Amino acid sequence: MSKVVRTNTGAAAPDPSEAEVAARVEALMGRMSLEEKIGQLTQIGGAAFVPGPKPEDVIRKGGAGSVLWLNNTKQFNVLQKIAVEESPAKIPLLFALDVIHGYRTIFPVPLAMASSWDPSVAERAQAVAAKEARAAGLHWTFGPMLDIARDARWGRIVEGAGEDPFLGVAMAAAQVRGFQGPSLGAPDRIVACAKHFAGYGVADGGRDYDPVYLPEGQLRNVYFPPFEAALKAGVGTFMSAYMDLNDVPASGNRFLLRDVLRGEWGFKGFVISDAFAVGSLVTQGFARDGRDAAFRALSAGVNMDMASNTYPQHLAGLVEDGTLKLDDIDAAVRPILAVKVRMGLFEQPYTDESKLAQVVALPEHRKEARLAAQRSMVLLRNEGRLLPLAKSLKNVAVIGPLADSMEATEGSWMVFGHTPAAVTVVEGIRAKLPGAKVEYAPGPEIRRDIASWFDTMMPEAKKVPQTPEQAEAACQTAVATARSADVVVMVLGENADMAGEAASRASLDLPGRQEELLKAVVTLGKPVVLVLLNGRPLSIGWAAENVPAILEAWEPGSEGGHAIADILFGDVNPGGKLPVTFPRKGSHAPLYYARNLTHSPEGSPMYNPRYWDGLPTPLYPFGFGLSYTTFSITSLKVSAPQVKVGRSVTVTADVTNTGSVVGDEVAQLYIHQRAGSDSRPMRELKGFERLTLKPGETKTVTFTLGPAELSHWSTNAGKWIQDAEAFDVWVGANSLATLHADLVVVC
Ligand code: BGC
Repeated sequence: MSKVVRTNTGAAAPDPSEAEVAARVEALMGRMSLEEKIGQLTQIGGAAFVPGPKPEDVIRKGGAGSVLWLNNTKQFNVLQKIAVEESPAKIPLLFALDVIHGYRTIFPVPLAMASSWDPSVAERAQAVAAKEARAAGLHWTFGPMLDIARDARWGRIVEGAGEDPFLGVAMAAAQVRGFQGPSLGAPDRIVACAKHFAGYGVADGGRDYDPVYLPEGQLRNVYFPPFEAALKAGVGTFMSAYMDLNDVPASGNRFLLRDVLRGEWGFKGFVISDAFAVGSLVTQGFARDGRDAAFRALSAGVNMDMASNTYPQHLAGLVEDGTLKLDDIDAAVRPILAVKVRMGLFEQPYTDESKLAQVVALPEHRKEARLAAQRSMVLLRNEGRLLPLAKSLKNVAVIGPLADSMEATEGSWMVFGHTPAAVTVVEGIRAKLPGAKVEYAPGPEIRRDIASWFDTMMPEAKKVPQTPEQAEAACQTAVATARSADVVVMVLGENADMAGEAASRASLDLPGRQEELLKAVVTLGKPVVLVLLNGRPLSIGWAAENVPAILEAWEPGSEGGHAIADILFGDVNPGGKLPVTFPRKGSHAPLYYARNLTHSPEGSPMYNPRYWDGLPTPLYPFGFGLSYTTFSITSLKVSAPQVKVGRSVTVTADVTNTGSVVGDEVAQLYIHQRAGSDSRPMRELKGFERLTLKPGETKTVTFTLGPAELSHWSTNAGKWIQDAEAFDVWVGANSLATLHADLVVVC
């Protein structure tokens, strides 16, 4: 039975059945020429930086199925009219853009949303993003980004859910539900794209785009699960990654795109390459020339060529000389048309230009953004309970280059043409303390050592850099401002362009003169709170020992300043937890909790420590985060000491708020398989739940451990297996949890 959904006009229309979609697709195919079919496999750029013929001319000839890098409702309608009225087959275009963490209302960056350990935060955020983007005329977002990232140097760690596949799975499914809603025909929603399939986060040295070498066990146990979860949640499209995976570029990788994605997982949607990636198969030393690249990408399973113009240049020739069959082209086109049919684009190709202004201004969107930011922040330190600060404070200094930066507050990767409109930290604190003196001094500015290509699109990059003298004067003003205050809030971290694509770093230190400024302010002897705005873990070893209160606020979005003030002044009790390990040094990356044990485990006298010039242990472990209250986690019980292969047990534990204010705790379940077919990680997350507890209140968390949690892809067996072996089970407040139980899996 087909579901009934509303169309954009508000009228009820049935969600078409598979058979109806297939019939409509075949009818369309029957009236398309080879060139038009290849057009459907072609995505063209609508931005000025993309060379080539004018989009209007390409579309008029039926030469494009989709347009990206355009964010202009009026222009969408102009181009759509050409497609549906003037092109030969009259097939509507899909308008696509990277809507990563908000369209106009900006939510915390995905890494921050993962810190909420609350998938509903990500689902609601992406639902708002979808609603705004759809009102603007967009149909398709290139998100969620599902690359597990364990190397904090890699700039794109900011776009994902961090280092862990279990948390990554939860966030992947939630984002797909948020973007797409109940079906591809849902109004006010957009099609999602699971990217970048697969392994992109493991670039050698954390250098963006560098090759990746991953054994199949790692791929299947760690890097694939969020993608499979997105697929199970109904994601409409996938994006192939840029880099070489085990010597085969991901955009020409048959193992990934055919064997696993379609063969094993049964994906029925379509795959788009990453930008220019089909053409790049030549640059990567894989394809001989453009023709070979088109052949290899299509054969491997890339349906749509993003912006490289390789398909339109070569596919027809490949069919004409018999290298490719027409059936190959048809098979690639069908799922693209199916998405257009399912979305109702043939019935409703245009966008009401008057709607956007109302939709983006909806106060509930800002409310959601503030809530998401509050739930995403992680309290890293709070010595002497410096936080929360009293609202009776009369004299506060807010110091640091990011304290009044809308760009840094909204963070990495905005949609094209977006004008930042965030509430900054200074504004948030001023709004919270209307009667107080809140002085602000930025201190020396921070910049990338090597500018980004993306900076050319950001107005602040055009600012003339400070001279050393100006920087020194700014430093002194900042220290003087701090000296005259009762409490100092330092807002440090990274500019928005310091994380994201082509934004890897060799060091994880606070960039520029920020640590020097922090030290100078701490020397004054005032109470100092450090608020971090950043898109990756930072090595803040000095601060972790010398600054009494540290709040990891990430890049919190449009309402970031309010959400930070809500936490600093106690209206909200922080409850986020780190989705990534914080290394002590950049050179310790990749550092993650789910490592395998060695012959000389940490703590044993031999061969320890690993480095002689510093502890290799995390500065802050995965899953860590404090609260203004305290919790105890007790009474860990496994429903049976033994479980048969294929059966499940229940794990319970009691979580109690032992402090005096309401607060959130995230109970986390970890396991370790002690022996078996393969070495397994010393800990793996297999369950979590974020709870809100009143003072003195106890709640029991219940987790299930069954075949899904107790199996792994075995390198030795070359398949998924569940070993009959002994397991350790822990439940606690972070990945160092000590509350332990035993479980034995038996045949
Ligand atoms: C990025 C993708 C993005 C695409 C389109 C590429 O450079 O790797 O994540 O979706 O551009 O903007």
